Amino acid sequence: MTDSKNIAFLGTGNMNGAILRGVLSAGFPSESIRATTNSAASAQALAEETGLDVQAAETNTAANAEAAAWADVVVLGVKPKGIVDLCREIAPTLKPGAVVVSVAAGVTLAMMEQALPEAALVRCMPNTPSRLQMGVLSVSPNARVREAQLARVASVLGAAGEVVRIPEEQINALIAVSGSGPAYAFYLAEAMAATGATLGLDADLSRRLAALTLRGAGAMLGENDDAAALRKAVTSPNGTTDKAITTFDELGMREIIARGQEACAARASEIEQELGG
Ligand SMILES: NC(=O)c1ccc[n+]([C@@H]2O[C@H](COP(=O)([O-])OP(=O)(O)OC[C@H]3O[C@@H](n4cnc5c(N)ncnc54)[C@H](OP(=O)(O)O)[C@@H]3O)[C@@H](O)[C@H]2O)c1
Repeated sequence: MTDSKNIAFLGTGNMNGAILRGVLSAGFPSESIRATTNSAASAQALAEETGLDVQAAETNTAANAEAAAWADVVVLGVKPKGIVDLCREIAPTLKPGAVVVSVAAGVTLAMMEQALPEAALVRCMPNTPSRLQMGVLSVSPNARVREAQLARVASVLGAAGEVVRIPEEQINALIAVSGSGPAYAFYLAEAMAATGATLGLDADLSRRLAALTLRGAGAMLGENDDAAALRKAVTSPNGTTDKAITTFDELGMREIIARGQEACAARASEIEQELGG
């Protein structure tokens, strides 16, 4: 997927770096991409890896403003506490028609609008499989975003996974499913591996079995997202899988998962408040 528009990644660490690498793999021309980091060392490492123009804010105080002035899509990937300051930094130079995307957790569109009242803004909530271009990235635009701008943003973010559009007020619910969800799968893998060792398997083998099993099950879910149908298809009445699932149900596993996800969404909302939302 290519687009002749310019893209600037401001703050290019784990998350923005994952999206940037996806964008490069998807064939966006490197001359249409610039990036910034804070330190000169990270800028140099990223420039050497990607061949891109990467500027460091600590050695060039105009790095973010200059990249923003050049770009049609500006993707903000600094830590949440730095997002509003970064919006203020780029406000004077932002191109008319540019769209600003934030991938930061907990920073609302209203908080960004205080610094960029006239701008087209999109709040995005990605998840960590974006690193493998297998992420889920939500987009919530403000009222100033035109459909063509949103399509351009979706083509950039789509290089890191699947893009879904949701109203901003649903972001905390989305965090409870896809944002924090990869860690739930890792937690399940940890628990399965530990039990395998308790049942007599070599601990390393058990860890590998759990990881490969979740990888395979994840790939099957990628083909068919009807998890209940997939589960029922491999559950013979009174068989081994049936015994496990019935035990999970009797012990209230679904309730436990629901309480955990509710706590996750509630914490996401608290973090917004702590950040000034
Ligand atoms: N990691 C995740 O799984 C994840 C998931 C969802 C959302 N997010 C969001 O993604 C954002 C970044 O998280 P991360 O995990 O990617 O953090 P990170 O790896 O620490 O990346 C932060 C980046 O910002 C750079 N930076 C700091 N101050 C800067 C400045 N003034 N100008 C330009 N660049 C600056 C850092 O440069 P240096 O390397 O030189 O310090 C680094 O490249 C956060 O807002 C977070 O909420 C992350």
